[in-house]
Amino acid sequence: MIAAPRVPLSDGSSIPQLGVGTYKVPAEVTADLVAGALAAGYRHVDTAALYGNEREVGEGLRASGLAREDVFVTTKVWNDDQGFDETLRAFDASAERLGLDRVDLYLIHWPIPSADRYLDTWRALVRLQEEDRVTSIGVSNFSPVHIERLRDETGVLPVVDQVELHPRFPQRELVEWNTQHGIVTESWAPLARGGLLDAPVLAEIAARYGKTPAQVVIRWHLDRGLVVFPKSVSLDRLRENGDVFDFTLDADDHARIATLDTGERTGRNPDLD
Ligand SMILES: NC(=O)c1ccc[n+]([C@@H]2O[C@H](COP(=O)([O-])OP(=O)(O)OC[C@H]3O[C@@H](n4cnc5c(N)ncnc54)[C@H](OP(=O)(O)O)[C@@H]3O)[C@@H](O)[C@H]2O)c1
Repeated sequence: MIAAPRVPLSDGSSIPQLGVGTYKVPAEVTADLVAGALAAGYRHVDTAALYGNEREVGEGLRASGLAREDVFVTTKVWNDDQGFDETLRAFDASAERLGLDRVDLYLIHWPIPSADRYLDTWRALVRLQEEDRVTSIGVSNFSPVHIERLRDETGVLPVVDQVELHPRFPQRELVEWNTQHGIVTESWAPLARGGLLDAPVLAEIAARYGKTPAQVVIRWHLDRGLVVFPKSVSLDRLRENGDVFDFTLDADDHARIATLDTGERTGRNPDLD
């Protein structure tokens, strides 16, 4: 049974540190996969309007039979829906697809600085939180300069910043800045989309603990206090990814994993949009 600890958020709520990612999980397998992951002990699902599977995430939640308050659900407003009124409408549509009255965490998916609408979008998230339609509000792919603008204009800081983060691109400065501001960092593409799992250093560390390279990388995120939700279409792999609470990495392991830092992203640089 997967028993992820909860990480406190600055608004008084908390989030399970390990969850299930659903980007590129085809809609036709999503409901069964989400229900299976919840049966295996996961209590946190990360989706987005963009992923085209919110309806099926909702089906999986209901099929699990779990109480609503026992599962943490994140979704995100997509770039085309930024703006105050547009975001309120996009939220209604996401909530309807999910079949939920209230979402645990609602994020601005990307800042898109060139469109300059993320501030109005943030004001809509603040409104949704005031109306108790979302418990917590946060951002994704935001840099300190964008977060400072939200704070300066609205007085409300996001509780999380969800960014690309993995051993090849560990984002140490951003994590430090977020921590100093009480913002929890969430790692997207935590396994670098599978691209770094054949690194010999991971195989060596994994062999020492009787674990797999993916489990070592997930443990690396957890040890750093990050919130993480690896994606897999395989329930066996999701179970493997959740079997990470019976070991921790030592300082030497972390130093060796640090050698994988090449500064390479798998996705685009959000500051350049
Ligand atoms: N906010 C954003 O802009 C943003 C962007 C990207 C992602 N995300 C979120 O972050 C989540 C995770 O990121 P991601 O899906 O891009 O990448 P990821 O979790 O780093 O990697 C997923 C890949 O790793 C493979 N994999 C998973 N578990 C494995 C294991 N135990 N052994 C070997 N391979 C394994 C999967 O293959 P199989 O599926 O074939 O098992 C898939 O190809 C997303 O699903 C989404 O919820 C957010």
